[in-house]
Amino acid sequence: MAAKKQNLWSSRFETEPAKILQEFNASIGFDIVMFEQDIAGSIAHSKMLAKQGIISKAESKSIIEGLNSIKAEIAMDPQEWAAERIADEDLHMAIEARLTTLIGDDAKKLHTARSRNDQVATDLRLYLRIQLAQLQEVLKQLRSSLIKRAKTDIDVIMPGYTHLQQAQAISLGHFWMAYQEKFSRDSARLEDALKRINVNPLGSGALAGSTFDIDRNLTTKELGFDSASTNSLDAVSDRDFVLEYEFCLSTIMLHLSQLAEEMIVWNSQEFNYIEISDGFATGSSMMPQKKNPDIPELLRGKAGRVIGVLNALMITVKGLPLSYNKDLQEDKEQLFMANETTIKCVAIATEFINNIKVNKEAMYQAVANSYSAATDIAEYLVKQGLAFRDAYSIVGQIVKYAIEQKKYLKDLSLGELQKFSDKFTKELDLSPEACVDARDVFGGTARKRVREAIKNAQN
Ligand code: ARG
Repeated sequence: MAAKKQNLWSSRFETEPAKILQEFNASIGFDIVMFEQDIAGSIAHSKMLAKQGIISKAESKSIIEGLNSIKAEIAMDPQEWAAERIADEDLHMAIEARLTTLIGDDAKKLHTARSRNDQVATDLRLYLRIQLAQLQEVLKQLRSSLIKRAKTDIDVIMPGYTHLQQAQAISLGHFWMAYQEKFSRDSARLEDALKRINVNPLGSGALAGSTFDIDRNLTTKELGFDSASTNSLDAVSDRDFVLEYEFCLSTIMLHLSQLAEEMIVWNSQEFNYIEISDGFATGSSMMPQKKNPDIPELLRGKAGRVIGVLNALMITVKGLPLSYNKDLQEDKEQLFMANETTIKCVAIATEFINNIKVNKEAMYQAVANSYSAATDIAEYLVKQGLAFRDAYSIVGQIVKYAIEQKKYLKDLSLGELQKFSDKFTKELDLSPEACVDARDVFGGTARKRVREAIKNAQN
C-alpha cells in the first residue's frame, strides 16, 4: 500500500481525502483573515492549560513562542500562506500543523481540552469585535460629515417631501440631521450587538465541555471577553451574534441606499439641487454630455448583497440540529464580504457627502414656487378660532383658486384671501423661511431647533 499523506485527523482513515473533497471542504482560503485571533485564542488557551497543570510551563512557553513566530510568518502574506495549505483544511489545523513542524512534540499538546468547534466560535467573536470597532469609527466620521453639512446648510431652505411630493418647507440642515439620526441608531445597535458578541465560547469543547480541570474564567479574562458562555451545546452552535451583526450591516446599507437615492434624484437635471464634484462623478462611454452619479448608484446597489448575506445565513441555520454542523462554516466567507463592503461604503458615502455642491437657489425656488404653505394658512385660521377640519376645507378652496389664477399662495392678496374667510385680518408671512421657523417644537425644522439638534449631536 502506498504511504498515505498525513493530516491531523487522518489516523482513522484508510486513504487520503479525494482532491475534489479537499477543496470543497476547506475554509482556509477565507478563514485565514482571522489568523491573529486564532493565535491569540491559542496563546490564552495554552497559558490556561499550564496554569491548571494540564501541560507544563515549559511546554506552554515553547507553544507560545512558536505561535508568535507563526503569526509573524503569516502576516508577511496571509493569502499565500493559506494557498499553500489547502490540504490542512482550515486555519486552525494549518496553524497547529505548522507549529508541529516548528517546535515538534510540544505542539501536540495545544489542542488538549479544545475542539475546533469552540475554537472557531472564539475566533469569529474576537474578529467581529475588531471589525465592529472599525465600523463604528467610519460611522462616526460619516456622522460628523453630516453634522458639518447640517451646520453649513442650516439656512438653505428646501421643500420637504412625502410621497416625493412637495409637502412643507424644511431646512436642509434638518434633512442632513435626519440621516445623522439614522446612522446614530445604527451605531447604538452595533454597541448593543457587541454585548452578545463579546462572550467566550472557549472551553465548550466539541459540544459537551471538557473532562479536564480547565479555567474558563482565565481565558475569558485573557481574551477580554465580558463573560463565558453558559451552555456548551449552545456555544458551539450559536450564530445569532453573526446574524445580529449582519442585521446591523443591513440597516446601515439600507440607510446608505436611501441617502444615495436622494442624491441621485437631486443630481438629475429635473431637480438640479446638487452638483457632484468631478472626482466623485463618472462619464458615459457614449454620451459626451453626461456626468453620471455612479458612486451613489453603487452605494444603493451594494445594499442588495449585504442584505442577501443576512438572508443566506438565516436560511443556512434554519432547521440545524444541535450542536456544531459543518453548514456553519458557510457563515464566514459572506460575513467577511458584507463587512468589508459596508465599511467601504460608509467611508465612500462620507467622502461623497463632503464633495457635493448644494444649489441653494434651485432648492429655494422649488419651495417658494409651490403650495407647501397650505398647512401654514390652515393653522393660522385655527389660531383665529376655526376648527382644524373647517380651516383645512377653506384652504383647499384657496389652493384650487390659486391654481386657477396661476398664482402661488404667497402671491394671493389679503383681499383675495378674505373672499374665503373673514378670519384673515392681516397679511400673512408665507415665505419659506417663516414657514420653517414656525415649526418651533422639539425635533422640528425651525432653524433654532436644528441648531439645538446639532449641538446635542455634537455632545
Ligand atoms: N472550518 C470550520 C468552520 O469554519 C471549523 C470547525 C470545524 N469543526 C469540525 N468539526 N469540522 O466552521
